[in-house]
Amino acid sequence: MPRTKKLTQIEKRALIKQQIKIEPSLSSRTIGKQLGVSHVTVEKVRKELLASGQLTTVDTLPEYLSHPYLKEHPEILEGLDARGLRALKAPGVLNLMQERGSLSPRSCQAALNRQRKADRRKNTSGMVPEVDIRQCDLLTNDLSWIADDSVDLILTDLPYSVDYVELYRALSKLAGRVLKKDGIASLVCMTGYGALPEIMSALHTDKRLCYNWTLTTIFPRRSSNLGWIGVSSFAKPVIHMTCGTRYKGEIYSDLITASPANKTREIEWEQPLDVFDELAKRFIQHGDSVVLDPCCGAGTSLLASLHTGSCAKVIGMDIKDECVKISKRRITEYLEYKD
Ligand SMILES: C[S@@+](CC[C@H](N)C(=O)[O-])C[C@H]1O[C@@H](n2cnc3c(N)ncnc32)[C@H](O)[C@@H]1O
Repeated sequence: MPRTKKLTQIEKRALIKQQIKIEPSLSSRTIGKQLGVSHVTVEKVRKELLASGQLTTVDTLPEYLSHPYLKEHPEILEGLDARGLRALKAPGVLNLMQERGSLSPRSCQAALNRQRKADRRKNTSGMVPEVDIRQCDLLTNDLSWIADDSVDLILTDLPYSVDYVELYRALSKLAGRVLKKDGIASLVCMTGYGALPEIMSALHTDKRLCYNWTLTTIFPRRSSNLGWIGVSSFAKPVIHMTCGTRYKGEIYSDLITASPANKTREIEWEQPLDVFDELAKRFIQHGDSVVLDPCCGAGTSLLASLHTGSCAKVIGMDIKDECVKISKRRITEYLEYKD
């Protein structure tokens, strides 16, 4: 193999000069990284260029400093902390500040982020979401009607007792098969603390599932008195996993507090809709999402997913016919009257 010749000092400096002239606003560190040389050398070459008049200090100003809005309002730079300065430099922030006449880079950056987030979650088809809810046993039925790698979110809430560990194993296998492997598609499963070690282990049955985090949901008005283990519990864990690769989605907060319960439940285990609304908002991260709940009960997770306006399809299953009927009714009512 031919050997690549090492650059001489003179050739290196010529290359650095060329690079500084092409993009004088790039920092010496960035140019150093690009060319594989020390930033100290780049700085030396820059000083030589300035001294010889081949470069002016105006050329070396970062691009954001030449923005007309900043020239008009130089006071924006006064008292800016590091986060404020980072926000000011972020793409689009100065333009939005100008548009709004705002002096706050951080609030404009937050507004831009919210807008970008909302844009990512928009449905492209504009169609009414498809709803498929069936009576099915997660343990024994053939579920091949749910295609491989087709689901963006499994949002569910299985029975919490250790007697149901097999159900969590089946859930893990189903998730491994049907979840997209993009680092964003997620299995989000509310459960109880009682059998958490066994449940965690069962959820790892399919080895492609990667544990990411456990969220805490707090139910201030809905405690369970677990006298036999000496606990009065106000909280439930929600396990978050991805499939095939680690989580690459948006940062989410790991705490959700339910508002005081005021709705009569349709089934004993029905969860507060506001808690599932929050989960759906956090984990449905793009438009045209497909959401599945294989133990949907009264359909709370499916309804919450539809509330986001980002679903192309919701799929529900429950072993009980009564639950299927309730879920279908709640969703039909929502879709009929939402506008
Ligand atoms: C905790 S509840 C879900 C409640 C639901 N999140 C809601 O808010 O209405 C668990 C559900 O799992 C269902 N289930 C239990 N075993 C099942 C199985 N083998 N296959 C499918 N569903 C099952 C139960 O009928 C029950 O509705």
